[in-house]
Amino acid sequence: MDHFVYKDGVLHAEDVPLARIADALGTPFYCYSTATLVRHYRVFAEGFDGLDSLICYSIKANSNLAVIGTLAALGAGADVVSGGEIRRALAGGVPAHKIVFSGVGKTRDEMAMALDAGIMQFNIESEPELAALSAVASGRGATAQIAVRINPDIDAATHDKIATGRKDNKFGIPWPRAREVYRAAAASPGIEVVGLAMHIGSQLLDLAPFEAAFTLAARAVAELRGDGHDIRRLDLGGGLGVTYGQDTPPPPADYAVMVRRCVGDLGCQLIFEPGRVLAANAGILVCRVIYVKETGHKTFLVVDAAMNDLLRPALYEAGHEIIPLKEPAAAAPRAPVDIVGPICETGDILALARPMPPVVADDLLAVRTAGAYGSVMASTYNSRLLVPEVLVKDGEFSVVRARQTFEELLGSESLPAWLAGKSAA
Ligand code: LLP
Repeated sequence: MDHFVYKDGVLHAEDVPLARIADALGTPFYCYSTATLVRHYRVFAEGFDGLDSLICYSIKANSNLAVIGTLAALGAGADVVSGGEIRRALAGGVPAHKIVFSGVGKTRDEMAMALDAGIMQFNIESEPELAALSAVASGRGATAQIAVRINPDIDAATHDKIATGRKDNKFGIPWPRAREVYRAAAASPGIEVVGLAMHIGSQLLDLAPFEAAFTLAARAVAELRGDGHDIRRLDLGGGLGVTYGQDTPPPPADYAVMVRRCVGDLGCQLIFEPGRVLAANAGILVCRVIYVKETGHKTFLVVDAAMNDLLRPALYEAGHEIIPLKEPAAAAPRAPVDIVGPICETGDILALARPMPPVVADDLLAVRTAGAYGSVMASTYNSRLLVPEVLVKDGEFSVVRARQTFEELLGSESLPAWLAGKSAA
């Protein structure tokens, strides 16, 4: 459920007509709804009422400071994967003691920065990373609390590019090898073993792979405790899917019941790292039709948003719903069109053979479920400017990231001395 709905025939974000934002800012732009973010956070959190749990919002899904701040105000911590994301989490108001640092390639500089900030936990993904963290922490007289990320070798049955829990993926350490890593960790200066972590993939539409992974996690916790480790936190990662097109993800409440069944009685604090399920439906990308191009063979809607603004359809064949800002008549005929951007690549697609009501040039469209992995994955390919982001709350909207300018785009580049001042003869 989200708060982008037609009222009197025009699409609103909460109580703000989206066309009003388009008039003020131009297109394209991302628009986020506070009410949807809050609702999704609450629905997810409610499932774990009465359990010792912490929701560490996965910053990578949407790292706009206003989005982080909205969730931080509800009590969310943060799952981060870079020094940049630590900075964002802190700037968005997440206390350091609620930050979990994941990722296979943490550099020593990032470790030092995270230790100085006083983050809660590092999720360790390899032996060399453990050695590096031990060196960095002990060198600063600090202690890093760690969990080891286990790779359970489970197929999450999601898109290949976002499955992370199989043994041929780069993530985590296979069980039982991880048991050795725990032994090494316990003997490493500057390291305190506190937990176990797992994240098997993203956009999961079935609870079964989660259940298999969490069952293995419960067994691993018992064995590690038997080895003498004080495993008091269990980080179950993110991964719960959302609806793009025809997908039917399990409701968060069912996920919570399954979690309780698998790991609810271990006496661990449960950490969750949801990204998409909190942010995806809380955002849309609004764009304008530049041309309706008829080839005789096909109809293309050429819009002013492109794969550089929203990469998911091109990269993962994701089927984001696309609707006109002006509500079409229920009886309006639907005809298949390709919705494409201006980028010079055939892959620059927002939707293929999508049944759409009649649309003409200058019409505004909303690409739905774009609040997660939308703006954060944008680039300036084809020298297109990064688009603005807007946060709506009730009847108000605020520009929470301005449209990039050409001065910003070109300002950090320069001609080398041997070219400066020369012009072609
Ligand atoms: N925790 C870890 C360690 C992760 O790697 C991820 C996502 C999450 C949590 C959050 O997962 P979520 O709840 O959002 O599924 N760009 C892709 C998604 C990449 C996900 C990467 N890791 C997409 O647009 O589908």
